[in-house]
Amino acid sequence: MNVNTRPIEIFDFSVESNDMQKEVLIGLSKSQKSIPPKYLYDEKGSLIFEKICQLPEYYPTRSEHEILKTNAKEMATLIGSDALIIEPGSGSGDKIRHLLKVLKNPKGYIPIEISREILLRMTEELHEEFPDLNTIPVCADFTLDLELPLSVDAYSGKKVVFFPGSTIGNLNPSDAVQLLKKFGKMTGHGGAVLIGVDLKKDHQYFEKAYDDSQGITAAFNLNLLERINRELDASFDLKKFTHQAYYNEVLGRVEMHLVSNIAQLVRVNQTTFRFREGETIHTENSYKYSVEEFCELASKARLEIKKHWQDKKNMFCIYYFEKE
Ligand code: AVI
Repeated sequence: MNVNTRPIEIFDFSVESNDMQKEVLIGLSKSQKSIPPKYLYDEKGSLIFEKICQLPEYYPTRSEHEILKTNAKEMATLIGSDALIIEPGSGSGDKIRHLLKVLKNPKGYIPIEISREILLRMTEELHEEFPDLNTIPVCADFTLDLELPLSVDAYSGKKVVFFPGSTIGNLNPSDAVQLLKKFGKMTGHGGAVLIGVDLKKDHQYFEKAYDDSQGITAAFNLNLLERINRELDASFDLKKFTHQAYYNEVLGRVEMHLVSNIAQLVRVNQTTFRFREGETIHTENSYKYSVEEFCELASKARLEIKKHWQDKKNMFCIYYFEKE
């Protein structure tokens, strides 16, 4: 049978969640109002995020591609032959392609993605581009307790978690350690984690990257209110809020907020919230790490640094850790 016409079997471990209303109401009741950043990514939010990745000011995506392109062969040598590659939050899978082109006889590739449509599309594309590759798509939220297909758990060869994009930076450091521990559990002893993380640098780069001149990041942030209006029957007036992004030097993170332009009342479902003029909703953190800081963090998850690579301008870093 032609491999490209083979029906794609997706392992579906996704759970229907009714948590959004609960989490938004709890977040807006806090003294510093906040909304979990995962809600930025509805269909429209994910499309806007793709645009962010192409912005001249948003350097992380370009820098990471440069590192992968330049060093994929060395990464493949460290990984070795017959490895099983697991990618949590794989999205369109554009970064793994650099590795798939040079990996020696990979045992399989397991993209884990919450959106069924995105997962299906990328699996089809991979079947076309790499017809010999055994792709095992898993539809799941990797931030929750994650099951993997039995064949993956049972594989006794080397397993490697690939986690690009500095998504780890959107977690606070203690949650980041927990996620790295989870990756270590997935790979088992002798496995490896290949992870892309944004580097600390002059705050001007951050302010431009997270508050771009075309207003794309502002639209990304404000879309959260549009989503809440639609999905939770809320009354946010988008014109009465402004996107704000700044680098918090003390905590080493870029913070994204939505600032209330005036004193106002907003209803979310049956609950009314009061906003003072200038009061903010904290919508995202993006932690930045020096090489030393990130290796220290990873050591708490018993991951040992073997090698790291930076782009020419030293904006971004990819680390290769092995599980102790
Ligand atoms: C997904 N994540 C790594 C992005 C970041 O840079 O923290 C999300 C983002 N928020 C605004 N711009 C990009």
